[in-house]
Amino acid sequence: MIIPDRYEDWLAQRERQRLQLLAEHEIWEQLESAAQSGEPALFAALRDLPVDTVGALLMDIPARYPLLRRYLPSMASNEVQEFWTGSHGLDLLLQTCGFVRSVRDGFLQYTGRRLSNLPTLDYGCGWGRILRVMLSLVGPENLFGCDPWHKSLEACDGHHIRANIALSDYLPTSLPFPGQQFSLIYAFSVFTHLSERAADAALAACRRHVAPDGLMVVTVRPGAYWDKHAAVFGLPDMEQQKHDHATRGFAFLPHDREAVDGEITYGDTSISPDYIRERWTDWELAGIDRLLQDPTQTIVFLKPR
Ligand SMILES: C[S@@+](CC[C@H](N)C(=O)[O-])C[C@H]1O[C@@H](n2cnc3c(N)ncnc32)[C@H](O)[C@@H]1O
Repeated sequence: MIIPDRYEDWLAQRERQRLQLLAEHEIWEQLESAAQSGEPALFAALRDLPVDTVGALLMDIPARYPLLRRYLPSMASNEVQEFWTGSHGLDLLLQTCGFVRSVRDGFLQYTGRRLSNLPTLDYGCGWGRILRVMLSLVGPENLFGCDPWHKSLEACDGHHIRANIALSDYLPTSLPFPGQQFSLIYAFSVFTHLSERAADAALAACRRHVAPDGLMVVTVRPGAYWDKHAAVFGLPDMEQQKHDHATRGFAFLPHDREAVDGEITYGDTSISPDYIRERWTDWELAGIDRLLQDPTQTIVFLKPR
């Protein structure tokens, strides 16, 4: 084995080796052969695979599997990944797969049903990073995504994300899928950025579209986030946000961007579990999960009341 001179090249080689260990030759062959019987057979075969194997396969589909390239999404550039999520490559994939497994396990735990072929919405889907992996659990016809930023939709389109994707509002009163009820709605790294008004509007819109026996899963940031924020952005202190979080359970620091209906709806946000229990009265806080890969995203499971 040739050991690269540069640290970055060594890391990239190590990353490729780890992905190849999961994306085994036989699996590629089985999937390409299933795809010859059509798209439903391919998705049935994908559903049987471990989530992390699907994630590894979708990082780079070799040109010798043309049907898989035709039916499955391609991977976004490192720049796109960084722009939406501040991380890329295996590091980001570990977070994505960890979240998908947590949602899948939480769905079974809190609804008593397996997450398989059920209508599912990615609220604030960005470039489609989670949709790509969720695809294997629910299939393209049951998968929906929305985002209020047209560039997110363009990115999903450019990478052939296999889902029904539509533009939503920054302060929604409903979702862009009239009459559609979802068994699962999830929002990763969205409520970690919304103003209180935007969060309330999003929850009310999602509540109207979640099935009575469905589940909503959102991520929120803990109060400890503000120390990290100050260190990363070289800010002197975040006393106001820490105070707001300690006293109200909700703290928001708007980004420098255009206002929507007189208010900046997007920035950085922390929300405590007590705030959720007291303020999000249309929902029951059913449980919480944490991932070591991503310690500033607390996963919250909500059942509609
Ligand atoms: C940090 S990115 C996360 C994207 C994606 N969920 C992921 O984890 O890869 C936040 C996303 O929320 C979207 N967004 C911004 N304001 C929103 C709002 N009011 N409601 C829903 N999504 C919003 C942004 O356009 C962006 O795609």
